[in-house]
Amino acid sequence: MFGREGLSFPTCFVQSLATLFLSQLMASSLNPCVEEITNITYRCMELNLSGVPAEIPPSTQNLDLSFNPLESLTSNYFSAVPALRFLDLTRCHIQTIEDYAFEDLHNLLTLILTANPLWHLGSKAFYSLTSLQKLVAVEDNISSLADLPIGHLQTLQELNVAKNNVDSLKLPKYFSNLTFLQFLSLKSNKISSISIGDLHVLQGEKGRNLTLVLSMNDIKYIQLGSFEGIHLHELSLRACFENTSVMKACIQGLAGLQVNRLVLGEFRNIARVEDFSNGLLDGLCQVQLQEFVFICFQRFDNCTDTLFDCLVNTSTVRLVDIYLNQVSAVPTASRIHQLECRTCKFSEVPALKLSSFKELRVLRITKSKYLTGFRQKFMDLPNLEVLDLSENRLSFIQCCSFYLDETPKLKHLNLSFNSVISMSGGLPLNELVSLDFQHSKLDSLGTVPVFLSLGKLIYLDISYTNTHVESQYTFCGLDSLQVLKMAGNSFKDNNLGDSFTKLTQLLTLDVSSCKLIQVSLSTFSSLGKLQKLNISHNKLLTFDHSAYKPLQALTVLDFSSNQLTVLTEKALESLPSSLVHLDLSYNLLDCSCNHLSFLKWAKEHGELLWSTELMVCNSPEHLKNVSMLNFDLSSCQLSAVLVAVYVGTALTGVVFLFLIYKYYFNLYYGLVLLSGCRRYADRDDTYDAFVIHSSKDIEWVRKELVETLEKGVPPFQLCLHYRDFTPGVPVASNIIHEGFLSSRKVIAVISNHFMESKWCSFEFEIAQSWQFVEGRAGIILIVLEDVDKVLLRRKLGLSRYLKRNTYLEWKDREISRHLFWRQLRTALLDGKTEPGRGGN
Ligand SMILES: *[C@@H]1O[C@H](CO)[C@@H](O)[C@H](O)[C@H]1NC(C)=O
Ligand SMILES: *[C@@H]1O[C@H](CO)[C@@H](O)[C@H](O)[C@H]1NC(C)=O
Ligand SMILES: *[C@@H]1O[C@H](CO)[C@@H](O)[C@H](O)[C@H]1NC(C)=O
Ligand SMILES: *[C@@H]1O[C@H](CO)[C@@H](O)[C@H](O)[C@H]1NC(C)=O
Ligand SMILES: *[C@@H]1O[C@H](CO)[C@@H](O)[C@H](O)[C@H]1NC(C)=O
Ligand SMILES: *[C@@H]1O[C@H](CO)[C@@H](O)[C@H](O)[C@H]1NC(C)=O
Ligand SMILES: *[C@@H]1O[C@H](CO)[C@@H](O)[C@H](O)[C@H]1NC(C)=O
Ligand SMILES: *[C@@H]1O[C@H](CO)[C@@H](O)[C@H](O)[C@H]1NC(C)=O
Ligand SMILES: *[C@@H]1O[C@H](CO)[C@@H](O)[C@H](O)[C@H]1NC(C)=O
Ligand SMILES: *[C@@H]1O[C@H](CO)[C@@H](O)[C@H](O)[C@H]1NC(C)=O
Ligand SMILES: *[C@@H]1O[C@H](CO)[C@@H](O)[C@H](O)[C@H]1NC(C)=O
Repeated sequence: MFGREGLSFPTCFVQSLATLFLSQLMASSLNPCVEEITNITYRCMELNLSGVPAEIPPSTQNLDLSFNPLESLTSNYFSAVPALRFLDLTRCHIQTIEDYAFEDLHNLLTLILTANPLWHLGSKAFYSLTSLQKLVAVEDNISSLADLPIGHLQTLQELNVAKNNVDSLKLPKYFSNLTFLQFLSLKSNKISSISIGDLHVLQGEKGRNLTLVLSMNDIKYIQLGSFEGIHLHELSLRACFENTSVMKACIQGLAGLQVNRLVLGEFRNIARVEDFSNGLLDGLCQVQLQEFVFICFQRFDNCTDTLFDCLVNTSTVRLVDIYLNQVSAVPTASRIHQLECRTCKFSEVPALKLSSFKELRVLRITKSKYLTGFRQKFMDLPNLEVLDLSENRLSFIQCCSFYLDETPKLKHLNLSFNSVISMSGGLPLNELVSLDFQHSKLDSLGTVPVFLSLGKLIYLDISYTNTHVESQYTFCGLDSLQVLKMAGNSFKDNNLGDSFTKLTQLLTLDVSSCKLIQVSLSTFSSLGKLQKLNISHNKLLTFDHSAYKPLQALTVLDFSSNQLTVLTEKALESLPSSLVHLDLSYNLLDCSCNHLSFLKWAKEHGELLWSTELMVCNSPEHLKNVSMLNFDLSSCQLSAVLVAVYVGTALTGVVFLFLIYKYYFNLYYGLVLLSGCRRYADRDDTYDAFVIHSSKDIEWVRKELVETLEKGVPPFQLCLHYRDFTPGVPVASNIIHEGFLSSRKVIAVISNHFMESKWCSFEFEIAQSWQFVEGRAGIILIVLEDVDKVLLRRKLGLSRYLKRNTYLEWKDREISRHLFWRQLRTALLDGKTEPGRGGN
């Protein structure tokens, strides 16, 4: 239209620019599609699109264009998206599909054309779809399979033309080209009769394995022989017949069919034939079938005698939603291996009648809300291996020896989701491999060992059975058990205790929701093979590394929903290297920095941890609800520095205090020296000498020294700490104030005791340094007899040679005594001021 006459070039140019701009604007303002996977998956539902949007990249593989008014698909319609694998064109008002509409879509696997009022399909409409596996043409106003130009789609596996107007099952010749076709649904069409020749193309094709769904066609007539020689994988004929007589006749029309599974019956909401009448299934005697599914039949007024008549050669019979309340006649020599009744109307397990199915291996009677009684016993079912009576309302008084003692091969028993099961008699089922009691109330388990004869049992589920495990012998006898599920029960003292010590083969243990508050040290000690442990939904506060240490084969540990605050470093170390799945979500995790090692570990082991988004901190308060893995470790490193500073300061303080304690005297002495020096000038000496001696030499000091010097002429005043020290004043203070500061001389009474005494050595050292500082008083050394001279020399060192010091040896002989006292007096007189002279 832009090239129209009368439009000048510039106008045209401006106009096309404007159009371009507008279309861009439209595209971007709608910017419609949801990008689910970039460059791969786009969803463009209900966006009033009239074509493939320009912004869809050519790499797109999955495109949903449903609910857009595409109207008609012209050729090369999808050339912008040649990589498509999945294309949904549901309800796109498509009326015509022109030749080559899907050109280039060589990779398309699935094409959905549901609910389009197709009335023109080009004969080459589906060309190019060389990989197409699934074509959905439901509700497309198709009136004949022959109208579908799909004969070249050799890769097609699934063709769904439900809800159309197809009125004949006549399969067009092109079906012989569709060798991979496995599923053809003609559900809800207008097929009213099936005639010989309709399925001609399938004749003799044994390998075909086709599932043919013809449900919800109003079939009035099936010509005998129509299915002669036909092999199908499955034939579904639900809600096809108007009344029982039509149904019976049509089933007879199936004669000659060979089918793996035949599905007959109604739908729960669409039930046309409701009454079962005798002989209804007689036609099945002419059909070869492996599995028969009979579904949604509501009335069986005692007319079940012929139900199984023609099913004797069938291996599997499944009755679903069948209001069957009793089993009447069972033909002898039935070959039924597997019989299943789901949602039937039995009020009692028809054990006696079912015992006629001598070949029975699998029996399931489930989901029957009226089934409460189990009074009859199974008689001689030598092949029965699986008995599933789950999801009924059964109660057992004495499970289960009486009912099951003639089923010697029973391996799998499922009594889950029933009412009350009492097992007081034990379970003499030696061959049992799996046993499921979950959600049935178990009487008597937990107090007495009831599993003693189940040495081959591998799988035991007693979850939510109201069991309270009191005895550690509860699981005795289960020598082969590999899986024990017992969630939702309870244990004595809420402690697992030693319940599992006999289960050495255990691989999986579920003790979630068991109100546990404790795990004993020995609980897991014999579970060295355990791979999965679910201990979630309990009230455990800690993860005691020594309790879990024996679990060295563990791969999955679910510890979620407990009250754990932290995994200690020891616990982290004890986790086995085989662990690949650890769930710590919904715990009371403490994210404070004193658990830094745990926080660090968690960050480094993100691949091991599951539900990490739910591993949130519970404390400290300001981190509540913060995901533990989002926790900022550096905030802790900062405070780690602070902690280091604090610790350093504290240590220094302690060392300082210790030093003060250790060198208290020296420090004190230093202080006194300083103050003593200041007061030196105005000091009046009270004593002539301060006597340092060992307390063990006190006898000598009193009798000899004090006696002689204080009572002699001139009398000398001695300072003795046992006598002259001020009581209540610290000793060190006394030594210094009363001793050194108030005395002119120091007399040291040297003996072996003196040299051994630390205290005396200390006093002597102070005296020496005092003399050094004051530079005046000498020390008078009195060496008593028998002193070890070598030691003496070492102790006294140089001081005996110092000029101002006097060195006297005491010998207890008259002559030497005289000399001794004279020398001592002389030494004491040295530097003594005359009375009246000096001082004030
Ligand atoms: C999508 O495709 C475009 C163009 O081919 C490319 O540049 C871009 O990297 C792709 N994006 C992704 C996520 O693959
Ligand atoms: C859809 O688009 C057409 C033009 O392409 C427009 O006329 C119509 O109003 C639109 N409908 C809606 C519901 O937006
Ligand atoms: C269905 O197709 C027929 C022709 O085969 C046509 O007459 C009829 O109008 C179509 N119905 C619809 C709903 O498009
Ligand atoms: C079957 O497939 C062949 C090869 O693609 C083709 O030539 C032939 O026309 C097809 N037959 C029908 C009935 O479409
Ligand atoms: C037949 O098809 C069904 C599914 O439609 C499949 O489960 C089964 O394995 C197939 N059997 C053979 C022999 O191909
Ligand atoms: C069953 O339906 C057929 C066809 O409509 C009819 O002829 C026949 O009388 C019906 N039979 C019964 C028992 O209703
Ligand atoms: C079904 O059988 C029971 C007894 O087994 C009998 O009381 C009842 O009348 C029978 N009902 C019909 C419809 O035959
Ligand atoms: C079951 O199979 C046997 C032989 O295998 C045959 O004689 C008998 O007629 C069959 N019964 C039915 C009801 O198909
Ligand atoms: C027992 O039956 C229940 C309910 O049908 C089912 O969920 C469970 O898996 C069955 N147990 C076993 C061991 O198959
Ligand atoms: C553990 O048990 C809980 C509740 O019984 C369940 O939700 C959860 O999925 C189990 N964990 C694993 C790893 O199976
Ligand atoms: C933490 O999250 C839970 C559930 O998501 C919520 O109920 C609770 O109020 C939150 N607490 C805080 C402190 O945000």
